[in-house]
Amino acid sequence: MPQAEHQPVLLDAALAGLSLCGAGVYVDATFGRGGHSRALLERLGESGRLIALDQDPDAQAHADTLAAGDDRFTFVRGSFAGLADRVEALGLSGRIHGLLFDLGVSSPQFDTAARGFSFRHAGPLDMRMNPHAGEPLSAWLHRASHGEIAGVIKRYGEDPMAGRIAAAILDARARSPIADTRQLAEIVAGAIPARVQAGKRIHPATRTFQAFRLYINDELGALDRALDAACDVLAPGGRLVVISFHSLEDRRVKRFIRAQARPPAPPVPMAPELAPALREIGKPVRADEAELAHNPRARSAIMRVAERTHAPKVMA
Ligand SMILES: C[S@@+](CC[C@H](N)C(=O)[O-])C[C@H]1O[C@@H](n2cnc3c(N)ncnc32)[C@H](O)[C@@H]1O
Repeated sequence: MPQAEHQPVLLDAALAGLSLCGAGVYVDATFGRGGHSRALLERLGESGRLIALDQDPDAQAHADTLAAGDDRFTFVRGSFAGLADRVEALGLSGRIHGLLFDLGVSSPQFDTAARGFSFRHAGPLDMRMNPHAGEPLSAWLHRASHGEIAGVIKRYGEDPMAGRIAAAILDARARSPIADTRQLAEIVAGAIPARVQAGKRIHPATRTFQAFRLYINDELGALDRALDAACDVLAPGGRLVVISFHSLEDRRVKRFIRAQARPPAPPVPMAPELAPALREIGKPVRADEAELAHNPRARSAIMRVAERTHAPKVMA
């Protein structure tokens, strides 16, 4: 199946949020198809530098093409959960001028049936962003208990029908292994009463698929680790820009920024070690009508920006 292109979301806003300086060193923690990275490189000067990360092997080929023609660009394949170590290995800890996260999956990942993220086409029950690590959804779904499946749907999909959906999955699994994403979506839809589905804009399996994807890739755990590393890798005055696509991610980003932007105690004058580690910049940004008109994927995007100060980070 041909891979769809990926249109970068909130591109201008993200570049503005990074407050680019031509000679700066930047990290794009979610390279994808390089939409944000390319725009960043266009604006960096000769002495600027961009490090990009992605855990998906398919991102590598696109990054390699970019790296071959631009020695300001370095690609590192791996999870941003290891951001602190990767930046440290490059000798750049505390020297990054801007750190960008554009979370979730890219359009090509989502639209390629073989990756198993979508129920729009029948695909294998996989959902791993890095198919060389961890276990595919099929393996977990085959052995997980009712409580485990319901717990994941509740926690990561916030679906009140979690118990019924888990029961339907166990019931189907007892008859024969669940074949593909489409069959799984039908099982989930069949578990939700018509009165609950009535009037809803989204497919009844959407929340369950989101929940399984977040769980299989430990997306929220990786985000927590990367946020924790952000204050260590950023230089004073460096910017953190995070684009989230659902409330579970955005809530974490908001809480993290608020926690680091609040001084531990309010003495006056403030001792440097008691000053906040981050300063929140502006209000959360959403896509405008013009962007939504050509990129519906931007509908759920929300971007937050913070700036690193000189103060030590607040320890969790
Ligand atoms: C929304 S896409 C980014 C698109 C990119 N900004 C562009 O314009 O092409 C998100 C990307 O982040 C990657 N990703 C998600 N979680 C990751 C993690 N923990 N570590 C590294 N990459 C991750 C995915 O593989 C995907 O390619």
